[in-house]
Amino acid sequence: MPDAHLRVFRGDSSTEGRFEEFDVPVEEGMVVLDALHWIQGHAAPDLAVRWNCKAAKCGSCSAEVDGRPHLMCKTRLSDFDLEQTITVEPMRAFPLIRDLVTDVSWNYEVNKTIQPFTPPTDVPQEDWRWQQEDIERVQEYRKCIECFLCQDVCHVLRNHETERPFMGPRYLVRAAGLEMHPIDQADRREYLKDSGGIGFCNITKCCTEVCPEHIKITDNAIIPLKERVADAYYDPIGWAWRKLRGGDAESGARAELPVLQGNPPQTDEAPD
Ligand code: SF4
Ligand code: SF4
Ligand code: FES
Repeated sequence: MPDAHLRVFRGDSSTEGRFEEFDVPVEEGMVVLDALHWIQGHAAPDLAVRWNCKAAKCGSCSAEVDGRPHLMCKTRLSDFDLEQTITVEPMRAFPLIRDLVTDVSWNYEVNKTIQPFTPPTDVPQEDWRWQQEDIERVQEYRKCIECFLCQDVCHVLRNHETERPFMGPRYLVRAAGLEMHPIDQADRREYLKDSGGIGFCNITKCCTEVCPEHIKITDNAIIPLKERVADAYYDPIGWAWRKLRGGDAESGARAELPVLQGNPPQTDEAPD
């Protein structure tokens, strides 16, 4: 097999980054993460890469390979033309820490602003009951491994397009799982409309295309949530009904979203 020619981003938040090039011997079944481990072992021992499971289940090894978000442990070198250079960069939506490692902590702060699972207060836990058919829809959302590839590819977050923060597709998936849970009592529609910024999503489906768990983020999570918000706030009958009932059950608004700060990795050359 020919060597793979990798062009890997190097740098940290205090310096202008650069690309370094490496020729890596290819073996059958190698993934991009294997190639980076070869580079660490033979050419650049200080190359920073975040990974954990090497089984596409921990969501740690997210990066951009040839400009597209990927789990590096799931991306085979054989999927690329080895005659061409393969460019590996950190996720560009998040602030850079070093080399291929970004600071994704903003996501965890967003998570804290979502009203968590809110079961009925008058039913003891041992009496909670639901059927498989009630929970099937929600199970899809629970497959999320928090790789943040969908957050990375979303143009609203990636390009810092909004004056107000946007929670992003990963947290719309989480909110959908809570809103559609058969015994959850909270109403997160106001939160989704105001703090969460669901209106910023224009349903481009880029998030769905990169999800390694094949969650139908746009069709199964975002669009149903948008419909619920529209029914409550933009449909006159729904709006009147809410007024008559006296407003929300328990509002999902816990806190304002933090702003996603920091710049994507800077280099003196344009990415491929
Ligand atoms: S569908 Fe919405 S959330 Fe998904 S990438 Fe597009 S704008 Fe972002
Ligand atoms: S929804 Fe999919 S792409 Fe987004 S964080 Fe979860 S697993 Fe990753
Ligand atoms: S190392 Fe765990 S998902 Fe890639």
